[in-house]
Amino acid sequence: MGQKVLFFGDVGIDDTIALLYAYLSGEIDVIGIVACYGNVSKEQTAINVRYLLEEVGRTDIPVMGGAEKPMTGEVPVFYPDVHGPDGLGPITPPSNHSAPLENFFEVIPLIDKYDDLVIVNVGRLTSLATLFLLYSEKMERINTFYVMGGAFNVPGNVTPSAEANFHADPVAANIVMRYAKNVKLFPLNVTQSAIVTPGMIDYIDSKGKSKLLKPLLDYYYFEFYKKKVPGLEGPPVHDAVTIMAVIHPEMFTFYKTPVALEISGEARGLSIGDFRQSFEQDEFDGRPIQDVAVNLDYFNFYRNFMRVMTGEPF
Ligand code: RIB
Ligand code: CA
Repeated sequence: MGQKVLFFGDVGIDDTIALLYAYLSGEIDVIGIVACYGNVSKEQTAINVRYLLEEVGRTDIPVMGGAEKPMTGEVPVFYPDVHGPDGLGPITPPSNHSAPLENFFEVIPLIDKYDDLVIVNVGRLTSLATLFLLYSEKMERINTFYVMGGAFNVPGNVTPSAEANFHADPVAANIVMRYAKNVKLFPLNVTQSAIVTPGMIDYIDSKGKSKLLKPLLDYYYFEFYKKKVPGLEGPPVHDAVTIMAVIHPEMFTFYKTPVALEISGEARGLSIGDFRQSFEQDEFDGRPIQDVAVNLDYFNFYRNFMRVMTGEPF
C-alpha cells in the first residue's frame, strides 16, 4: 500500500497539509505519528493529529507522544501568529481529541517491524535526536530520513541566518546531522519555493476532495506570509513538499555535503554545508555526506500537488 513512513511533526498548518497529501496520494502509508512541540505544544499537536485522522477515517494510526521541549532546556515558544490559536488556522478541533498518547518508545516495535521504513521529520528534531542517543544501532534499519530544516547560504525565517526547525533545537538537529547516515534534507532553499497560489487553493477547494486545505492555507497562514514577504504569490508548504519527496525525488536537485549547525550565539541554528568547488569528504569533522535539496522543479511540484489534492490528471 505504498512506502511506509514514520512521521514526526509539530502539527501546525503545513504539517497537516503534508499528512493530508500522504493520505490522498495513496502511495504513502503513514504507520505512526510522533506528536512533538514546535508550531504548537505537544498536546495541541496530538489534538490536531487526532482531529485530522478522524476527518480522513484513519484513527487506526498510532499517535506517540514526542518531545515537549528542546535539548537546550529552554521553554519552547509557539507560533499562533503563523498557524492560528490552535495551530490549524481558523479551525478549532473538538476537545474530545485529547485522549492519552501512546508511549514514545512504541516507535521501536514499528522500526523493528518494517524493512525499508523511512522517517519524515518536519518539526523540531528533538525526538529524532533522542532515538540516535539511545538506539543508534536500531536507527541503521531506517532506509532514509526526510528532514525539513535549515537554510544554506540563504536567509533564515526566524533569524537572519536560521530556519525555525533548526533554530528551535540546534543541539538536536546537530546530533541528527552527525549520526544519521542517509538524510535527505529539505531546507528553505527549496521549501520557500513550494508556493500554493490562491488560484490553486480555490481550484482544489472547488473539487471537494480536500475541503480542509482552503481554511488551513487562507487566513492566518497566507496573511502571515503576505505581511512578512510582500509580493509573495501564495503560502509555501514546507512540510508537504518534504513528504512529496518520498515518492517524487525527481522534483529536486540534490547537492552532496556533510551538514553541521551553529548551536549558540548570533548565528544559532545556522546550517553549514561545504559548497566549495572541491573538498575532501573527511575534512568536515568526519560527518556523513547528506543529500541537501538545492533546487525545486516547480512545474513538477505543481502537477503532483494538484493531481493528488484534486484527484484529476494534471
Ligand atoms: O521553517 C518551517 C518549518 O517550521 C515548518 O516545518 C513549519 O511547520 C515549522 O515547523
Ligand atoms: Ca512543521
